[in-house]
Amino acid sequence: MHIGAELFTNEIKKNKIAVFDSGLGGLSVLRELVMLMPNEDYLYFGDSLNAPYGMKTVDELKILCRKNLEMLLQNGAKCIVIACNTATEAAAEYLRAEFPDIPIIGIEPAVKPAAMQGMNHKILVMATPVTINGGKLHRQIEKYKDRADFYLLESPDIVRFVESGIYDGHENEELKLYLKNLLKPYTCGENKIDSIVLGCTHFPFVKENIKAVFPYETKIFDGAEGTARQTQNKLIENGLRAQEDKKFNIDILNSDKNKIDLCKQIIANFNIDR
Ligand code: DGL
Repeated sequence: MHIGAELFTNEIKKNKIAVFDSGLGGLSVLRELVMLMPNEDYLYFGDSLNAPYGMKTVDELKILCRKNLEMLLQNGAKCIVIACNTATEAAAEYLRAEFPDIPIIGIEPAVKPAAMQGMNHKILVMATPVTINGGKLHRQIEKYKDRADFYLLESPDIVRFVESGIYDGHENEELKLYLKNLLKPYTCGENKIDSIVLGCTHFPFVKENIKAVFPYETKIFDGAEGTARQTQNKLIENGLRAQEDKKFNIDILNSDKNKIDLCKQIIANFNIDR
């Protein structure tokens, strides 16, 4: 396990929405945050050196997440967005107890919106092993089990593809084959699903490849937009929303320096204009 990130700023003004993930996945949440609050300043940390988080123990994740949070606080965070379902499952409560003075927002699989779209849907929840086996997801499913049938699928290898720069828009046979083998059992017969919850922030980057496995339309849900709205509410509640009418700025940190360019490339494709 590698700990620590290289800091390249001495900024101490606490004015940034800090977002972290095990790597590049949290950029899917950052995008929604920037769309909703384009006048804020952001600090994004990807812990790519330690990815995947989904295969680690809860204790290891608590240590890593605490380090991430401390580093972000030193670098001007006014709130922390855990843009990682796995880290939220393993460490959000622990971090909130340890750092009660800083707003900490987590992300959870979008089970509620998927269940509320109507009755009797068959919903596939894809996530990492930590999230699939964690209490948060099971508590949510328990709440909505009368509305829909839920199928849970550990899909940790998608993280590896995204971390190596393979995502929608890049034709990749290995990714296609992997998804086909993984999802085929859910395309027909008794287990034929109609909706998918992407319970890992890396997965929206391969959403089109996932959809392509199904010979019919599927509805896809993820927690990014809900997390952005929740962050906005928390900031307002705490009097922390930026007041100036200015364009956002994003600082990028990554525990693996080789991933910085890929992060920038993905952010450049956000296509967010005011
Ligand atoms: N992106 C993270 C999530 O939302 C985890 C990916 C990983 O296993 O590192 O769960």
